[in-house]
Amino acid sequence: MGLVEDRVAVITGAASGIGRETATTFAEHGASVVVADVDAEGGEETVSRIADGGGEATFVETDVSDPDDVQGAIETAVEEFGGIDVLYNNAAIEGPVDRLHEYDDEAFERVVDVNLKGVWYGLKYGIEAMLADGGGSIVSASSIAGEVAVPNYSGYGAAKAAVGQLTRYAAIEYAEDGIRANAVAPGIVRTEMIERTIEENPEMEAQFEETEPMPGLAEPEEVANAVLFLGSELSSRVTGVTLPVEGGYLAQ
Ligand SMILES: NC(=O)c1ccc[n+]([C@@H]2O[C@H](COP(=O)([O-])OP(=O)(O)OC[C@H]3O[C@@H](n4cnc5c(N)ncnc54)[C@H](O)[C@@H]3O)[C@@H](O)[C@H]2O)c1
Repeated sequence: MGLVEDRVAVITGAASGIGRETATTFAEHGASVVVADVDAEGGEETVSRIADGGGEATFVETDVSDPDDVQGAIETAVEEFGGIDVLYNNAAIEGPVDRLHEYDDEAFERVVDVNLKGVWYGLKYGIEAMLADGGGSIVSASSIAGEVAVPNYSGYGAAKAAVGQLTRYAAIEYAEDGIRANAVAPGIVRTEMIERTIEENPEMEAQFEETEPMPGLAEPEEVANAVLFLGSELSSRVTGVTLPVEGGYLAQ
């Protein structure tokens, strides 16, 4: 018996990295999954990996900075799978790695549009659908950069900090409606996002390896398992928290 048997999960940014790993993990644990991403090729690849493993999934091309797209992804869950039980607001972009005074204005706006407003739309339309469907669990992607200041990530970090605060608002406003809202705050995870950053800033590779007290980098499945915990009944009394998945970084 899977931990999310017969549940329906919508996962944004599921064409790559942590989102793809979470989508396959949820499917392995019995959920039907809506894979929502701007990247159609990667999204379809996630769907076929799930199908190959005997699971059920569908892809919806979604730009999370567009409220209609987010609403569309959630409607797909209701129309194709009969409801929505779990939403993982995972899609994000890393933005530039620059000191604050050199951080490009347009890039800042795009980071806020995707990483913060994307989560806001997910919460808004996800909660609306869950209120009509007897409750559910929402998990959003924060970061260690949303908990403490990580140099040269001001736009990204500010958006992630706001994700933690939106999570707390959603948790208390809907606690009586059977809707839980939590976030995960990964440290450095071996994904395309980190690979791109290393490609553009090769000096950061050694720095990333040394960031967390636990040796090396996290693997996407280590974050996916934390999302599975928060999305399932295993965490039935947990709401409003940002769960660090960062090898002890924030304990220092
Ligand atoms: N990798 C890390 O070290 C790390 C650390 C802390 C937090 N995170 C967070 O984890 C989440 C996943 O990161 P990842 O490392 O797997 O990144 P990734 O780049 O591998 O995957 C991100 C996915 O989001 C999609 N995406 C980007 N913009 C989108 C948009 N506007 N609408 C819909 N989809 C969009 C991309 O197409 C991609 O499939 C992000 O929220 C990220 O900020 C990652």
